[in-house]
Amino acid sequence: MANAAALTGPEPTIAELIAARPSLSMHAMDGLLLEDVALNAIADAVGTPVWVYSAGTMRRRYRMFASALSEAGLEAHIHYAMKANDRLAVLRLLAREGAGVDVVSEGELRRARQAGVAAEHIVFSGVGKAEGELRLALAEDIGQINVESAEELEMLSAIAASMGRTARIALRVNPDVDPHTHAKISTGRAQDKFGVPYADAIVLYRRAAALPGIEPVGLAAHIGSQILSVAPLRATYERLAELVRALRAEDLPVSVVDCGGGLGIPYRDEAAPLPSALAGAIRGTLHNRDVRVVVEPGRWLVAPAGVLLSSVVIAKQLQDSRFVVLDAAMNDLIRPAMYDAWHGIVPVSAVDAVGPLSSADIVGPVCEAGDTFARGRMLPPLAAGARVAILDAGAYGSVMSSSYNARRPAAEVMVDGSNWSVIRERPSYADLWRSETVPHWLE
Ligand code: LLP
Repeated sequence: MANAAALTGPEPTIAELIAARPSLSMHAMDGLLLEDVALNAIADAVGTPVWVYSAGTMRRRYRMFASALSEAGLEAHIHYAMKANDRLAVLRLLAREGAGVDVVSEGELRRARQAGVAAEHIVFSGVGKAEGELRLALAEDIGQINVESAEELEMLSAIAASMGRTARIALRVNPDVDPHTHAKISTGRAQDKFGVPYADAIVLYRRAAALPGIEPVGLAAHIGSQILSVAPLRATYERLAELVRALRAEDLPVSVVDCGGGLGIPYRDEAAPLPSALAGAIRGTLHNRDVRVVVEPGRWLVAPAGVLLSSVVIAKQLQDSRFVVLDAAMNDLIRPAMYDAWHGIVPVSAVDAVGPLSSADIVGPVCEAGDTFARGRMLPPLAAGARVAILDAGAYGSVMSSSYNARRPAAEVMVDGSNWSVIRERPSYADLWRSETVPHWLE
């Protein structure tokens, strides 16, 4: 997932993984704690697999991000990219901290409104917004729509004019910058589908200013996710700053620059830039441009706040290979199968955590070899019934889960200090087929 150079050293130990995550601690009797709650207590009450999120971690990280921006002297607004984790409780928590949201679909827009996010604090991104989605955005009078093509601009103008509304738009520009992350989550190279070509931006902005129902307010870019170096981000902001200058030279109004998201986190032990470094890059490129800055972080705010808690179903030895089969699978957390992502795996019991290490493949029960969370991971003995926490699962975890193999999506829990609550129940089996019908001619 991260660049190859970061992944050549020895893997961090269990103790190092815990020490690097302030919300986790190992208690001799109670085992692994998230904030002040024993994960065993949650597993006993709710069962496994279960996602568990630390409210304190989300709050702490939001505040760290916000203060990095304000300490850099920026007038900046955080629009949480809710695709990372769209649970109502998560949205409410971040909205109460002052966050707006970045949405990419009608469903996300409706969820954000349901969670109490004010329409004016919503930015709508996405390369293929359908007519109905644009209508809803206009009816709700959301803060900003990021337009990604000439075609979308014309469509939005026609819809807005017919509704007697005005769309505040930012033009999403493809800056042709390589973010040096996994190809599947690179979004700002010329060959990627996102945004309008850099060379077309001025012509399109001019067009936007002339169209009925459209008020161009600024520019946007988002070059990718899990970015571990500030350099490509800075290069992007430089290109945006240059466009701001060029547009203003034509007396076109530009008041907002949306810098997107993408800041990466250390899943293993990668050196990842902090929000202060990101804020420095924004300041260095855009500060003297007199614009309001928008950022859209997703992963950075919530990934380290979550674990996927799972139990060992079977531990089996084959020839030279040791397989630990969990009750969680790729239908729950797809990131290892989809992006070869590395996630820390920590035993929940303090006794398990100090056992002698040997190499193991940690897998799920789904009928695909790709259903593998980790290969050749040095872990202590883990017998059937032992529990493990898969770390940094708060972003792009449950939101990407499915019911493949007719497996029920896992329940979700939020911990806050010594309190915890189920924030999403596990669906029943009947829920899985509730919306299906067998045609009468098959009866
Ligand atoms: N803004 C836009 C327009 C985006 O498309 C994204 C993410 C973000 C903001 C937030 O990016 P973040 O700060 O979370 O990196 N499923 C993949 C990640 C996909 C990211 C898609 N877009 C994964 O599990 O790594």
